[in-house]
Amino acid sequence: MYLSTSLLRSCVSRARGARPTTLAAAAARPLLSARQTRQSSHSPLGTPLANPRKKVTLGTLRALHKKGEPITMITAHDFPSAHVADHAGMDVILVGDSLAMVALGMEDTSEILLDEMLLHCKSVARATKGAFTVGDLPMGSYEISPEQALASAIRCIKEGRVQGVKLEGGKEMFATIQKITQAGIPVLGHIGLTPQRQNALGGFRVQGKTSNGAMKILEDALAVQEAGCFAVVVEAVPAEVASIITKKLSIPTIGIGAGNGCSGQVLVQVDMSGNFPPGRFLPKFVKKYGDVWSESLKAIETYRDEVKSRQYPAPEHTYPLPKDELDAFAKSVEQA
Ligand code: KIV
Repeated sequence: MYLSTSLLRSCVSRARGARPTTLAAAAARPLLSARQTRQSSHSPLGTPLANPRKKVTLGTLRALHKKGEPITMITAHDFPSAHVADHAGMDVILVGDSLAMVALGMEDTSEILLDEMLLHCKSVARATKGAFTVGDLPMGSYEISPEQALASAIRCIKEGRVQGVKLEGGKEMFATIQKITQAGIPVLGHIGLTPQRQNALGGFRVQGKTSNGAMKILEDALAVQEAGCFAVVVEAVPAEVASIITKKLSIPTIGIGAGNGCSGQVLVQVDMSGNFPPGRFLPKFVKKYGDVWSESLKAIETYRDEVKSRQYPAPEHTYPLPKDELDAFAKSVEQA
């Protein structure tokens, strides 16, 4: 049971023999009212949904795909961003290694470690009640051998508490994907532009812009499907190519910068919600659905101004003290 500091103090003063009137009043009310448990500024976010939806499973995703209903996926990097995405009814929440750059300020995604990813997976998993959760295997945690990849994937499930893992690569990852899926861990593929390999690709470049390039992506897609992926992210590929690939596959494609012919879409939450300062580079495919950064800036600036001008805190933001207690306190202070 969690006891707030102020409640602890009041319990101690009661135990030390506070005035009988106070004791009687205290005895008349329950030790921990719902209100008291919420007194900390560290209380959990919000309340659970009034009508919680059914948990999304691989079966749900298969059914959506079969119906031709687009699968919605978004990244979340911590408890609050997962909480809001889950409330918004996203089908899949991805703890993408993009968090290295957008949440941790790293140069690129190759810097992030599996242990760091696991910390973020855990916080996202705690917030997510409805969506299917997937954690990215970071660079260095799966390329050495299928055994290494399986060990990392198992950590994502057991420690990170996500339901599946994503890894980048096509044909060359066949044995690795097989190894992980055969252990009962769902794998989401990722082909086209694979950011972990940006140094080999010559940067963040659109893939499949030639007939040969497009054919290579189709071969990669078929290979990851054959190896057991439940779906595959197709990143930065011309829309027509992604559409043809989608039609050739029996598993869903999740597009990012790959047009409207994919079976679903994924975006990085920080990008689509506008949680970045003006002037930041934004890839062409991102649609900005909000202006979270400006809203936060406005709120924090107003708070700063109100603290400076003593407008905040106002009386309604303070805790009441009975007049007789205040008078007694003032008298004690005077006497002291
Ligand atoms: O890391 C990530 O966020 C991703 C998505 C962009 C697909 O891989």
